[in-house]
Amino acid sequence: MRLSHKNTTIDMLLFKKTAALQAYLQQIKTSHQQIGFVPTMGALHKGHLALLKTAIQDSDITICSIFVNPTQFNEPSDLEAYPRTPGKDIEQLEKVGCDILFMPTVEEVYPPETKTQVSINFQGLDEVMEGKFRPGHFQGVAQVVKRLLDLTKADKLFMGQKDYQQTCIIGHMLDTLALPTQLIVCPTLRETDGLALSSRNVRLSPNGRAIAPQLYQCLKTVKEHLATHPIEEAVQAGKEILAAHPIELEYLEVAHPKTLQAIQDREQQAVICLAAWIDGVRLIDNVLLD
Ligand code: PAF
Repeated sequence: MRLSHKNTTIDMLLFKKTAALQAYLQQIKTSHQQIGFVPTMGALHKGHLALLKTAIQDSDITICSIFVNPTQFNEPSDLEAYPRTPGKDIEQLEKVGCDILFMPTVEEVYPPETKTQVSINFQGLDEVMEGKFRPGHFQGVAQVVKRLLDLTKADKLFMGQKDYQQTCIIGHMLDTLALPTQLIVCPTLRETDGLALSSRNVRLSPNGRAIAPQLYQCLKTVKEHLATHPIEEAVQAGKEILAAHPIELEYLEVAHPKTLQAIQDREQQAVICLAAWIDGVRLIDNVLLD
């Protein structure tokens, strides 16, 4: 829905200050409207827009945040290189019908006087896969999402399955802290050649872009092989797909979809996850085994 103010429909509101956002949302909360929230780091693509469309359908008021969160980057060069396209993002958000855009500075999100660190036990969810290769990453993700939820008081939080491990971490945080927000995980959107949509794709060279769909081919191969082969052989078949290209694999894991621990035997449910470098760009992807 579009925000109504004194009987006129107004366009998307942009807030940069937490105090102004909170004051505005206070009115929304007293009128019992459901707030849907899509946190992003900008460089919006069709995957983000699909999350927003779902949020708009499922909520009375939809908030999108654009904040490149420094605490979740373990490499300063990665933070520096993260794509930033604010003008285009704002245009796309207005077009899709987002109600509120929150675009704070680092000082607004992490004021020195406010404790924002999240100290909970993630039961190992943060130690495998991404957690192994990006130490501290999920502490940063949990910290920023918790802070943004505190500020937006969202009833529903929309996140993409592409960051599967992230959705498990945030789901665990919501449960552990008994936060009154429902997590809604939306399916991964892919290009027609199978490449999962990601803000990082724009950094791929033409050659990198040409071979990037092999990541999805690899995941599909593992999934197909798992129907008839032991896990080790299925993973080996996936690795062979990537080995034929200049792709540097970081991990390819068949894991339990809830605990994220590597599984040894073929089970009914599993998630197959990978991370790989293509031409200096790190991409992740996953598929679920039904
Ligand atoms: O998935 C992302 O873009 C980020 O990790 C998130 C959830 C916006 C937190 O900064």
